[in-house]
Amino acid sequence: MSNSDSNPVPGKDLYDIGVIPPMGHVPKQMYAWAIRRERHGDPDKSMLVEVVDVPTIDSNEVLVLVMAAGVNYNGVWAGLGVPISPFDIHNSDYHIAGSDAAGIVWAVGDKVTRWQVGDEVVVHCNQDNGDDEECNGGDPMFSTSQRIWGYETPDGSFAQFTRVQAQQLMQRPAHLTWEESACYTLTLATAYRMLFGHHPHELKPGQNVLVWGASGGLGSFAIQLINTAGGNAIGVISNEGKREFVMGLGAKGVINRKEFDCWGQLPTVNSDAYKAWFGEVRKFGKAIWDITGKGVNVDMVFEHPGEATFPVSTFVCKKGGMVVICAGTSGYNLTMDARYVWMNQKRIQGSHFAHLKQASAANRLMIERRIDPCMSEVFPWDEIPAAHLKMLHNEHRPGNMAVLVQAPKTGLRTLEDVIEAGPAG
Ligand SMILES: NC(=O)c1ccc[n+]([C@@H]2O[C@H](COP(=O)([O-])OP(=O)(O)OC[C@H]3O[C@@H](n4cnc5c(N)ncnc54)[C@H](OP(=O)(O)O)[C@@H]3O)[C@@H](O)[C@H]2O)c1
Repeated sequence: MSNSDSNPVPGKDLYDIGVIPPMGHVPKQMYAWAIRRERHGDPDKSMLVEVVDVPTIDSNEVLVLVMAAGVNYNGVWAGLGVPISPFDIHNSDYHIAGSDAAGIVWAVGDKVTRWQVGDEVVVHCNQDNGDDEECNGGDPMFSTSQRIWGYETPDGSFAQFTRVQAQQLMQRPAHLTWEESACYTLTLATAYRMLFGHHPHELKPGQNVLVWGASGGLGSFAIQLINTAGGNAIGVISNEGKREFVMGLGAKGVINRKEFDCWGQLPTVNSDAYKAWFGEVRKFGKAIWDITGKGVNVDMVFEHPGEATFPVSTFVCKKGGMVVICAGTSGYNLTMDARYVWMNQKRIQGSHFAHLKQASAANRLMIERRIDPCMSEVFPWDEIPAAHLKMLHNEHRPGNMAVLVQAPKTGLRTLEDVIEAGPAG
């Protein structure tokens, strides 16, 4: 695709990547990284650039010109079609992944009052129909219409334009670049709900939390949120190269999981394998006590690896504490020794993204510079599949990855910056 089209003409039907149409002009078509059912597989196979129609918007929807987008597992799972294919959820022939974005409001539906064309925004990924009890006095994440934009809807952010509900928009932190603004909302808001969204186990000052994958997208925000709230984060890593990064985020201590051998499903209770496993878990528990103090178990475990770690999570959590889980990256067959769960009255709590109020509270912390976006790497438009391949193979650097869409290079903060820079050469 050439970038020669640097003089946009009002009314044009398709603009090259990096070319900004006149403010508010919506072309008929756009470039997008599209997944199709017959291409399900690794990201470099499943995602292909296609020219597709710019989505039309309903009265409560907004069209956003995407400057940059965030890379999440959602894009990996959507490409693989695992655990389910996005085409089993929506009716579109193609799926545009991408559940994080920063950009500019380009068109608004006629019932949208809070946002105007030209506003600079970040997008959170929760959608719902807004018309049931949970959306009106309950918890929108419990609504039967709840769905994740860019995963359960076909119109995500790996495209020049994306269609979102007005309630998905939040103010963009002006101190961040486009790519920094685009990389954090999904993981930050998810971590926020896990830590503060499950009454009466909301994190309180002085409490201890074990955070798996502390250098990752979710983990790096969990550590910062716990620190900001006056709690003590104990971060888990898998190689020493990540220790300094996690301590730098404000962890009280860091444990390297490679020094222990108690991972995977629970061995049959009372077998020899179980005894060996139990010894290793006690060793792991002792490593936690070295940070929290002798006999002080963690109030909360921040879970997402799933199968590999869940038996240990349910063991090291304190009496009356909570294991809060939002994923099963290593597998979904969760096992545990139930005796320790019922006798010690531990809570196991599922958690999934966040509603607007939680996402906004988290975004406020970003605007106030209490939290760093922890952007690890930025990829150009052409390398969106490569970024996802890195994530699939756990080869990505600590933090959150971003990709450029209409922003032609890194370091730009406004629309004017982008127009002045012109399309990437
Ligand atoms: N439900 C939701 O709303 C929601 C929202 C966001 C993310 N998620 C899911 O949460 C998961 C993590 O997302 P993320 O963005 O934080 O990913 P990430 O940046 O890749 O971080 C995950 C971390 O988990 C650790 N890990 C990987 N395999 C592990 C294993 N077998 N045992 C222990 N730790 C392991 C790794 O750290 P070490 O190797 O250093 O230990 C890795 O850095 C994904 O499955 C994602 O789809 C769910």
